[in-house]
Order: sequence, then structure tokens, then C-alpha cells
Amino acid sequence: MKLLFIGDIVGQPGRNAVQTLLPKLREQHKLDFVIANGENSAGGSGITPKTAEEIFSAGVDVITSGDHLWDQKEVMELLAGEKRLLRPLNYPPGTPGQGAGVFEVQSPKSKAQSPISVGVLNVQGRTFMPPLENPFLFAAEEVKWLRELTKIIFVDFHAEATSEKIAFARFLDGQVSAVVGTHTHVQTADEQIFPGGTAYLTDAGFTGPHESVLGREIEPVIKRFLTGMPQRFDVAKNHVLLHGAVIEIDDASGKAVKILRLSESMV
Ligand SMILES: [Fe+2]
Ligand SMILES: [Fe+2]
Repeated sequence: MKLLFIGDIVGQPGRNAVQTLLPKLREQHKLDFVIANGENSAGGSGITPKTAEEIFSAGVDVITSGDHLWDQKEVMELLAGEKRLLRPLNYPPGTPGQGAGVFEVQSPKSKAQSPISVGVLNVQGRTFMPPLENPFLFAAEEVKWLRELTKIIFVDFHAEATSEKIAFARFLDGQVSAVVGTHTHVQTADEQIFPGGTAYLTDAGFTGPHESVLGREIEPVIKRFLTGMPQRFDVAKNHVLLHGAVIEIDDASGKAVKILRLSESMV
């Protein structure tokens, strides 16, 4: 099966890019399943029922998130009832929402067969990030039960430090189909398949306006660094790109066969 992961969708330009480009990408890459990080989908910070619905309607099957998940208060509604939205797994026990899910996919290549189950896991790093529970220990436990249901498992590791991201993915090599990083909004060029069969990319990048600083207007960010004073960071507008990666997975073994990094322009 083939799945597409889309890096952090930033604001309306990011949502527009998904709506415009995803139908074409589904066709072109014969995608069976699409996962997108939506932590910045509402005005660049957080996610609301409205922005989540737009993303699902555009053809995304599951939305993952990260540290910005909590920025809009309406997110609580989503966390209470929307099983297709994941939050980082390693929040303390009792936090609303869920960090993993198993979803059914009817692959067009296997219409006669029963649907394929895809496990999706969202975990957050804690190096240069708000302190959470240990992502390595939490992920290992969760992967153990997910593997009883399916060997096809995708992990969005939302983290800042490249060392933590690589170590985390190496730790899960052979246990999951893919680990793709998010959060830095800068796409890395290190896509590869580890010896155990886990596809890896340190950061998928972000989907939104790239004539910007990580999706925000340039001037206020420069001013913030110059003066140290808080500024309003509006979402930028120009040079909109969809960033992500297509991963081909062997259905039987759950091992990755191929990983292709994407940077798709709106024009
Ligand atoms: Fe983000
Ligand atoms: Fe983030």
C-alpha cells in the first residue's frame, strides 16, 4: 500500500494547498491513505472543528498534531469526539484525546480482499520542547499493542532536535513501517529506509506559504529578534508549497519498500 504524509498545514494557504493538490497527488501516486499534521491549520496556531473538517473533506484520512494542538479552545470538542484526530501520545494519563488509532483502508489493488488496517501513532519529543512523558517508553508500549492488530504502522514524531528524532526512529526500526518528523517546518533531505525496514525522514517540512519565516510574515519575526518584544505573527501568503513524503509499504510484512520526499508547488 502507499500512503502520503503531509507536513504541518499552516493556516488557510496550507489548507487551500491540500484541497487543490491532494486529488491530483492521490491519482498520480495511487495513494491508499493520507495522513496530515494539522497543528497549525487554524490561523497558524492550533486546529478547530471547521479547519479539521476542511482537511478531512480534502481527502485526508487522519490528522496528527503536536505542541500547538491546544492553541484554539474549540479543539476540546474535537478531542472528545473525533477519532481521526490524534494528539501526541506521551501526555500524562487522563489528557483528552488519543495518541494512536487503527484505521481500515480498502485498497483499490485488493478490492476482493478484506480491508487493510493501518496503525497511526503521534508522539512528541522533549528535547528543547515542553516536558512530557518519555516518548521512547510510551511509543514502545503502544507499538506493542498496535502490532497485534496490524504491522502497517506510521509514526509522526513531532520534535525539535535531529538527534532525538534519529535516535527515536532507530529505536523503532523494524517495529513500524515509517517514522516521519514534524515541528521544525524545514524539510530535510535524509529520506532513507533503515536496515529493519522502517522508512525515515527527519522532517517532512510544512504545507503553506514559504515566502515567510516557517509560514509567518517575515518582518514581525525579524522585529521580535531585533527587539525581544512580542509581535503579532500573521500567516504569510506567497510561494505556497505542499511538503510531505509518499511511503510504499509491503502489506504482508509492514516493511517500507520506498520513500519519496515531496515538495509540490501550487502552480
Ligand atoms: Fe508546526
Ligand atoms: Fe510544533
